[in-house]
Amino acid sequence: MSQCCACRYPAPPLPVLLGLTIFSILLSVSPVIGWRPWPHQQINATDLEFGSSKKYEGSSEFVHLKYHMGPVLTANITVHTIWYGTWQKSQKRIIRGFLNSISNVNTKTPSVSGWWKTVQLYTDQTGANITRTVHVGAEKNDRFYSHGKSLTRLSIQSVIKSAATATTHPLPINPQSGLYLLLTSDDVHVQDFCGQVCGFHYFTFPSIVGYTLPYAWVGNSATQCPGICAYPFAVPVYMPGLKPLKSPNGDVGVEGMISVIAHEIAELATNPLVNAWYAGQDPSFPTEIADLCEGIYGTGGGGSYMGQVLDDHDGATYNMIGNGRRFLVQWVWNPVLNYCSGPNALDQ
Ligand SMILES: *[C@@H]1O[C@H](CO)[C@@H](O)[C@H](O)[C@H]1NC(C)=O
Ligand SMILES: *[C@@H]1O[C@H](CO)[C@@H](O)[C@H](O)[C@H]1NC(C)=O
Ligand SMILES: *[C@@H]1O[C@H](CO)[C@@H](O)[C@H](O)[C@H]1NC(C)=O
Repeated sequence: MSQCCACRYPAPPLPVLLGLTIFSILLSVSPVIGWRPWPHQQINATDLEFGSSKKYEGSSEFVHLKYHMGPVLTANITVHTIWYGTWQKSQKRIIRGFLNSISNVNTKTPSVSGWWKTVQLYTDQTGANITRTVHVGAEKNDRFYSHGKSLTRLSIQSVIKSAATATTHPLPINPQSGLYLLLTSDDVHVQDFCGQVCGFHYFTFPSIVGYTLPYAWVGNSATQCPGICAYPFAVPVYMPGLKPLKSPNGDVGVEGMISVIAHEIAELATNPLVNAWYAGQDPSFPTEIADLCEGIYGTGGGGSYMGQVLDDHDGATYNMIGNGRRFLVQWVWNPVLNYCSGPNALDQ
């Protein structure tokens, strides 16, 4: 989701495991099918079953994803990470492991690089595809909370400015191929975090930062709302009876972030200045390629059903592999097939 978060769209208001017919009627009212257990959706545990199956994965009929002629990230992407607040080495390793695996094609399938292949299907007006190469770039630690423990959408830009203008080891300024990823630790409050968003992307304003840089923010929800932003590795308190799934890397908050980071990077690549690939009439409320598939991790996914994923011998749930780790990452909208797709699809 971008600055003007797509989660404000009314989500389907009824219990979500409905027949396709009823669901289609809802979709004609609101084309947004992304799903997370936001409290206002008032879904109860009876409605939620991880195990049921049906062919869904979004609806092509009501989704009008359009290209609006703006640039996309066709040059090799370098992700510059800002670690804001208190981060454990083990947490950084999980996130770096994911970022490093996006372009690593020498991995077992279903792979993270296979997931990125769907993002590569998007082109700009010259017909150039999104790059296949995502490098991990410079990192900056902001250990002492330079802008406090409560950030707004605007002060996030000041954090990026501080990192890019630091006297020692500033982050490189690279508007063409740099992508700036601000990650906040679990004790940092961010405007709209947990209530409306788990992360967002936008670009910095020259008046604040001096440059127009595509960036994303993602927060660690472990202490604030794991049942929402780290779902399904944690479940909301208002869904008693629903058991969380076991995360593959042993850190619920961080593993919830992985799918949100993937979501934001896929959208930054295809809509970096919020004038390229999105659905919906209003450019200030764009519905982007990952918004359309939020909550969908496998074949049959849709509504509150995550789709068919993999369960390992240790009981952990995942749907792709990268650099020797297992990850659970949502699918993204496939512009060729006109539905959500991912590397663990059973029918491809
Ligand atoms: C939960 O949903 C089920 C099925 O939609 C319904 O039968 C049940 O009454 C609901 N329970 C509560 C507590 O709302
Ligand atoms: C580039 O995009 C076009 C259009 O979606 C697609 O047919 C082609 O396979 C893409 N190329 C790569 C390398 O992904
Ligand atoms: C982009 O990355 C590829 C590796 O995937 C590399 O071969 C190529 O030289 C890079 N291009 C630029 C302009 O850095």
